[in-house]
Amino acid sequence: MEKSILITGGAGFIGSHVVRLFVKKYPNYRIVNLDCLTYAGNLENLKDIEGSKNYAFAKVDINDEDLLKEVFNDYQITDVIHLAAESHVDRSITDPLAFVKTNVMGTVNLLNTAKNHWKDLDNHLFYHVSTDEVYGSLDDGGFFLETTPYDPQSPYSSSKAASDHFVRAYANTYGLKTVISNCSNNYGPNQFPEKLIPLCIHNIKQNKPLPVYGKGDNIRDWLFVLDHAIAIDLVFHKGKTGETYNIGGFNEWKNIDIVKLLCEIMDRKLGRDKGASEQLITFVKDRAGHDQRYAIDADKINKELGWKPSLTFEVGIEKTVDWYLENEGWLDGVTSGDYQKYYQQHYS
Ligand code: NAD
Ligand code: TYD
Repeated sequence: MEKSILITGGAGFIGSHVVRLFVKKYPNYRIVNLDCLTYAGNLENLKDIEGSKNYAFAKVDINDEDLLKEVFNDYQITDVIHLAAESHVDRSITDPLAFVKTNVMGTVNLLNTAKNHWKDLDNHLFYHVSTDEVYGSLDDGGFFLETTPYDPQSPYSSSKAASDHFVRAYANTYGLKTVISNCSNNYGPNQFPEKLIPLCIHNIKQNKPLPVYGKGDNIRDWLFVLDHAIAIDLVFHKGKTGETYNIGGFNEWKNIDIVKLLCEIMDRKLGRDKGASEQLITFVKDRAGHDQRYAIDADKINKELGWKPSLTFEVGIEKTVDWYLENEGWLDGVTSGDYQKYYQQHYS
């Protein structure tokens, strides 16, 4: 094997798309998916590739030092792409410590294991996948650049910012070769239905209220998940070590407009009367400390690595709605928690 890459969080939303892309595109790499299967990890996401010769799965918590060492030894890991994290802002508000544990302590544990395992640090790469939320919140104008000072506002973004700092500290202090990318909001197949887009699709289908926080005028910059995975592939292979790359689709939407668009698409696909699903929109209490606007300037990755989104939002959102409608079993399993019971029986 030319490389043996540890991808953490590979059973989650973005991680599963990254694992699939690498397994299929690089038969000469071994891809080791390391994931402890929290509520957000679902091996269903990878059913189509689980039998591939160059794929292995390890049910391990990134905080477990001994098991991590074992995986590095057993698979002779050459590189890391680190996605495992607690990822939902609302959960970070109710349980910030869980975010410190996984996102900060888990990342440091992983950095430490990699640094100690690799004899010649020059030949290995630690790629940390992060978020644009570390830059804080924007008003009406301007974009997040790679040089924008960190100003995280939520427990989630603070924990991701801390992990980014530790990655840079390991590069500076120990000479670990690292690269970081900070991406805007992702959408697409396999996203857990606690996040805005899949939550709305699920609730519209079930005729349940669509909770819009505050006035619905907060702005997010949306990118199709496969385009993020393609960018990660490029950064991993062509990115300059020590650098940061912002990833985003120049695709800003007010939350309320996204929700209305989803209602429109779902009315059409479900054969409902025009405007029927919009009746479900319910304005609710705002999220505490709700960031107003995120917007990525993705000029650097475009100019230096030639990346740009392959899909328009119009195409991506139709594909996403179609996927959720065609994969009702996935959505039912995730919302009922049945898949978690299965893992408890088979992987404990
Ligand atoms: P997700 O919540 O869907 O998946 C996270 C995965 O990590 C799950 O499979 C979970 O089981 C695993 N995991 C959690 N804690 C773990 C631990 N202690 N040990 C091992 N595995 C653990 O998240 P996602 O949306 O796919 O995000 C993946 C990464 O990308 C995260 O680092 C996130 O911060 C970053 N990111 C996400 C977005 C987005 O819009 N979702 C945008 C930019 C960056
Ligand atoms: P989310 O998908 O949780 O991503 P993030 O908070 O990381 O940006 O939320 C996207 C936006 O949608 C955010 O401004 C909060 C808002 N939102 C709602 O209005 N209602 C909801 O039920 C959820 C989950 C989010």
